[in-house]
Amino acid sequence: MSNGYNEKVIEVFSNPKNVGSIPDANGVGTVGNATCGDIMKMYLKIENNVIVDAKFQTFGCAAAIATSSTATEMVIGKTVEEAERLTNADVVNSLGGLPAQKMHCSVLAEEAIREAIKDYRSKQ
Ligand code: FES
Repeated sequence: MSNGYNEKVIEVFSNPKNVGSIPDANGVGTVGNATCGDIMKMYLKIENNVIVDAKFQTFGCAAAIATSSTATEMVIGKTVEEAERLTNADVVNSLGGLPAQKMHCSVLAEEAIREAIKDYRSKQ
């Protein structure tokens, strides 16, 4: 498989973590990608202001899946404020980069996490 993805991205895409839903999530965010129209739903379980679990479902591409898997792993264990500061660039850097034409895919997870946090706060 070669389409500009590095080995790490291919590995994470082939074995993504945290795919699915969290039935008792207290923050849920759904966003659409303005560039491609793909959709991402993010579930967060937050206890005492710390993200104890995060899962995602997406109709996005390989880059969306790899970046969402990585983003969920990066926010678990973080406070809500720390998670809010996570950017798509942080996620892409941790994956060793993405092909330029796939950078827009990495925005899905960042935006979905922020929406899920907004949802969480609206319920407090
Ligand atoms: Fe839509 Fe990648 S092409 S998320």
